[in-house]
Amino acid sequence: MTHVPNRFTRSHALYERAMRSIAGGVNSGIRKMESPVPLYFTHGNGCRLYDVDENEYIDFQIGQGALFFGHAPAGMADAIADQARRGVHFAAQCELEIEVAERLQQMIPSAQRVRFNSSATEVVLAAFRLARAQTNRRLILKFEGHYHGWGDEGLVGFAPPESAWGPDEAPTHLHPSAGVIPEVLDQFVVARWNDPDHLRRRVSQFRGKLAAIVCEPCLCNTSCIEPVPEMLAAIREACDREGALMIADETITGFRFGAAGAQGYYGVSPDLTILGKAIGGGMPFAALVGLENVFSGITNGTVVHAGTLNANPLCLAGSKWCLDQIIKRSELHPSESSTLGKRLMQGLQILAEQNAIPLVPQGPGVVFHTTMLKPGAVQGPILDYRDSVRRHDAPRWAHLRRCLLEHGVRAIERGLWFMSLAHTPADIDDTLSRASLAFTQHATQWKIA
Ligand SMILES: Cc1ncc(COP(=O)(O)O)c(C=O)c1O
Repeated sequence: MTHVPNRFTRSHALYERAMRSIAGGVNSGIRKMESPVPLYFTHGNGCRLYDVDENEYIDFQIGQGALFFGHAPAGMADAIADQARRGVHFAAQCELEIEVAERLQQMIPSAQRVRFNSSATEVVLAAFRLARAQTNRRLILKFEGHYHGWGDEGLVGFAPPESAWGPDEAPTHLHPSAGVIPEVLDQFVVARWNDPDHLRRRVSQFRGKLAAIVCEPCLCNTSCIEPVPEMLAAIREACDREGALMIADETITGFRFGAAGAQGYYGVSPDLTILGKAIGGGMPFAALVGLENVFSGITNGTVVHAGTLNANPLCLAGSKWCLDQIIKRSELHPSESSTLGKRLMQGLQILAEQNAIPLVPQGPGVVFHTTMLKPGAVQGPILDYRDSVRRHDAPRWAHLRRCLLEHGVRAIERGLWFMSLAHTPADIDDTLSRASLAFTQHATQWKIA
C-alpha cells in the first residue's frame, strides 16, 4: 500500500481565519512553532490524535506532557462529567480537595502541606513568594535553560541568545520578553546546570542573600538533561548551608517519574515542589506542596495566596482519577513507560544510523529529547544549556520533525518526546514504521537542500 503523507489544507484555512480574531492566531506563543502550520484537532483517543484534515497522529506531544493518561480516558471523562452535573465551580470548599491533597501526601513524602492553583506558572509565583517571606531574603538562584512558566519571574535567564550569555562563571539574567519591569531581573542569580563546583562558587558569591534555589530536577525543557549524580545533593547541601529553600519544579517530572516524582526517582527531598501537567491529566490544575513549616506564611495568612478557580471541582475530579491510576500501578510505574520509551529511543537511533542522520536521543525514557547534532559536533551526552545550543541543529531537527508529522508521528517542536500511560508496545512498533518513512524522506530532502 502506498503511503500518502498527511496534508494540512483545512488547518491552513482555519489558521488564516483565526489570524483575523485571535492575536497572532494562537493562544500560547509556542503553538506558532508547529510547522508547516498550527494544527486544528477534532478529537483524540489514547495516544492517537486526529486533525481537521482527518490525519491521524501517534501523539508524543500529548498536551505538552499534561495528557499523561492519554487523550480522553473514559474513566476521567466520567469523573469530570459526574462532577459537572453536581456543580462546575463553587469557589468554596468541597471534600474532593481534601481527597486529592491526601493522595499527594500519600505519594510524595515532602508533601506535608498542599495548595492548589490552575497553572504551574501561578504555583511558581506562590513558591517564590513563600520562599522570600520565609527567609526574609529576595534573591532566587535558577539555572540556565530551566523553564518555570511564563510569568515575569519564572522566565529570567531561561534561554538567552548566545551573544548575551555572559561569562561561564556569571551567566546573564536576561528576560526573553519585552514589557518586564527591569528590576525583576535583579531579583535573580543564574547559574549553569550540572556543574556542582560552579554552583558552590555562585552560591558563596551571594552568601546570606539567597531565598531559594529552584530547578527542574531533570532538565526536560532543554535537551532532557538528567542531573549528574552529585548535582541535586549539591543543591540540597547549598540550601541547608545557606538557610535557603530548595524548590523542585516537577511540573513535567511529577507523577511521570513515579508516584513521588523526580524527587523519589533521584532521592532528594526539596522544601517546596511545583506540580502541574500530569496532576490534572489535561485539566487546568496545579499544586504547590512542601514542608509544613515552609507553608507557615500561607497558614498564618501573612503570605497572600488566592485564585477564583483554585481547587475547582472539575479539576479535582479529574485529578483524583489521574492520581488513582498512578497509585494503582504501584511499582510498575515508571518502569513500564520508561522501558517502552527506551525502546522507542533505541529504534529512532537505529533508523538515524541507517539513514546517516546525526540524531541522538537522550533522557530517562518516560520523556526524552532527540538532539540533531550540528555538522562536526562531538558525540556524547548534552550536559547543559550552552552545550545544547552549541551542538543541537534546530533547523535540521525542524525538518525531520515536519517529515515525522507528515507520516503521522507528532513529536514536540523543540525535540522533546513525552511517553504516556496510553502508549502501548504496538503503538511504538507503529511509530517506528512511520518514522522509517519519515527518516528516509528527511535524508533525501535534506541532502538536496
Ligand atoms: C518545568 C515547568 N515549570 C512550569 C511550567 C509552567 O506551566 P504552565 O504552562 O501550566 O503554567 C512549565 C510548562 O511547561 C514547565 O515545563
